[in-house]
Amino acid sequence: MKLKTQHQQLCERIEQLNYQYYVLNQSSVSDADYDQLLRQLQSLEAEYPELRHENSPTQRVGAPPAKGFVTRQHQVPMLSLDNGFESEDLRSFVRRIQDKLVNHQQRYACEPKMDGVALSLIYEKGELVAGITRGDGLQGEDVTSNVRTIRTVPLRLRPPYPELLEVRGEVYIPLQDFAKLNEQLASRGEKLLANPRNAASGSLRQLDSSMTAKRSLSFSAYALVQLEGEPWPEWHSDCMRRLHELGFSMHSYSRVCHGVAEIESYLAWLQKQRSSLPFEIDGAVIKLDSLEAQQQMGYVARAPRFALAWKYPGVEVETELLAVDVQVGRTGALTPVARLQPVNVGGVMVSNATLHNFAEVKRLQLAIGDRVLIRRAGDVIPQVMAKVADGVMTKAIVEPQSCPVCQSPLEQDEMVQLRCSGGMDCSAQRLEALKHFVSRKAMDIDGLGVKVLQLLLDRSLIKQFADLFDPQKINLQSLMALPRMGQKSAQNLLSAIESSKSTTWARLIYALGIRDVGEVTARQLAQNFPDPQTLAAADELSLQKIDDIGPIVAQRIVQYFANLDHLAQIERLQCLGVHWPLLSAKPVQDQPLAGQTWVVTGKLEAMTRDQLEQRLRSLGAKTASSVSAKTHTLVVGKDAGSKLVKAQSLNVRTWSEQDLLQWLDTQEEGE
Ligand code: IVH
Repeated sequence: MKLKTQHQQLCERIEQLNYQYYVLNQSSVSDADYDQLLRQLQSLEAEYPELRHENSPTQRVGAPPAKGFVTRQHQVPMLSLDNGFESEDLRSFVRRIQDKLVNHQQRYACEPKMDGVALSLIYEKGELVAGITRGDGLQGEDVTSNVRTIRTVPLRLRPPYPELLEVRGEVYIPLQDFAKLNEQLASRGEKLLANPRNAASGSLRQLDSSMTAKRSLSFSAYALVQLEGEPWPEWHSDCMRRLHELGFSMHSYSRVCHGVAEIESYLAWLQKQRSSLPFEIDGAVIKLDSLEAQQQMGYVARAPRFALAWKYPGVEVETELLAVDVQVGRTGALTPVARLQPVNVGGVMVSNATLHNFAEVKRLQLAIGDRVLIRRAGDVIPQVMAKVADGVMTKAIVEPQSCPVCQSPLEQDEMVQLRCSGGMDCSAQRLEALKHFVSRKAMDIDGLGVKVLQLLLDRSLIKQFADLFDPQKINLQSLMALPRMGQKSAQNLLSAIESSKSTTWARLIYALGIRDVGEVTARQLAQNFPDPQTLAAADELSLQKIDDIGPIVAQRIVQYFANLDHLAQIERLQCLGVHWPLLSAKPVQDQPLAGQTWVVTGKLEAMTRDQLEQRLRSLGAKTASSVSAKTHTLVVGKDAGSKLVKAQSLNVRTWSEQDLLQWLDTQEEGE
């Protein structure tokens, strides 16, 4: 009995913490404390398996692989929606409603149309009992074990809960996680996921739910379809509020509108937000807010008359493949790039798209001259998705046998990716490496664009990074000898080079361009290995102790420093004046902003956003790009917009740039 109570208390505590974190965006304990509670529960259940329950928080990691999915009938059919593309579609939708309903003053719930996969969840007595995909609308696949791994799906509802609840919503992968997932796949040489929708759908239908657990799926509810044991709310928007109380997380992009004008301004507003939303949308959904009015409007064929899917201009279009060029990237990867008949994709003209690698060219069975389908999604580079039709006169795409730039032999790395083995001897790799080295988040040499770099390379003024800082090579005279470089520009460039010498150790690590070492990893490396010699001496095991560094990245870092020239290169940079402040000797937890998350928004005056964020991080803060209830302070520059509004609505502290600078001064005095 005592064990059972202990188990129940642990479950409740963890559920409460999950709710705070995933639904309220707050956390009251550290990650370490949370992990400890979870481990305690895991070992209790390992010792007493009879205590384990399928909705216990330990079940989020996945169940043993299934042989296939069982088909289940939907008690309420899962319908699709009628689409609208232009203003007249919206007007006739509203007109039809006004003609049919007595009360003409209708309210409309307007919501983002998330681009994921539909899922129905059933709860009995507060417990999740089933998660079913849409299927053909009448019956779908039972994916309950996979659904249990989705952190934003409550496994138990928060009391007081109804006897029975069926809720529908969209399963999606947040764009940030999608990008991360593709980065991981690329670094393993595996096939990339075409878009977040396919990624979500593939992940939800994995037979091995521990695979689903590794994908950052999320769930966003958009309809309440069965409710027993408590009265139905009057409005759809109240249903959403009730679902929030029961433990479902809600985004903040839905609004209630009155009439066409308000709906249109919502649609324009949402479209403006589109590129900065954390998830992909393909439009908006407009629904009658009154549930009674919804019933009165009824259904036609397979779609309700009370809702309309407003579609934004398509992001997938067809065009002709004119040629395939091969680009050699910074780390030698050979990427086939499709040259296309220019075409408008969702408002942007596209004439190039990536084909990722030659295995992808084979998989798509492409030839030059074919008709292809291309897709552009958010910030993702346009991609060729499929062949639509064979061309009339086609030409085969030939896989290179050596580097097309320097003719060095190729290496086939991790299954699919072809790489040039030339390193810095390959002029394409050298140019890309230098572009990265001088870029904003690396050494930040203002005004040193690709054209000037190319000229410096052509004249053999630079071969390695350090040459940029060598006055024998780069000086007023050598710069002024370049075409279109006057005295003023040459002086500006020299002073930009000079000021870039004062940098941080993390920036320099990032600038080196070690494969798979991005900004975040570079920062972690700098914190853990305070100088070049210690980093160069680190072994794979000690590197893997750092968060987010797995065996592959650890191996890449060790390989990088196995080349003694690389350490010598850093030492030469230091000899030529590149320097950085030693990291504060204070342990991280003693730094003034430890444990706090700060966000910076708007135009700043005294420094760039990057510099300010770096300063905050050096004082122990984490910096984030969006405001949530977890944000400690929002620093507000000029013309701040939605982040400021959100911070105010969440009661997050806001500071002007001036407030922050004053506070920073006091910190420096005290140091
Ligand atoms: S309501 C009866 N609301 O769009 C009404 N659907 O084309 C049912 N979708 O399969 C749908 N966001 O998966 C609704 N806010 C939203 C939505 C949404 C995405 C998807 C849904 C459905 C498809 C309909």
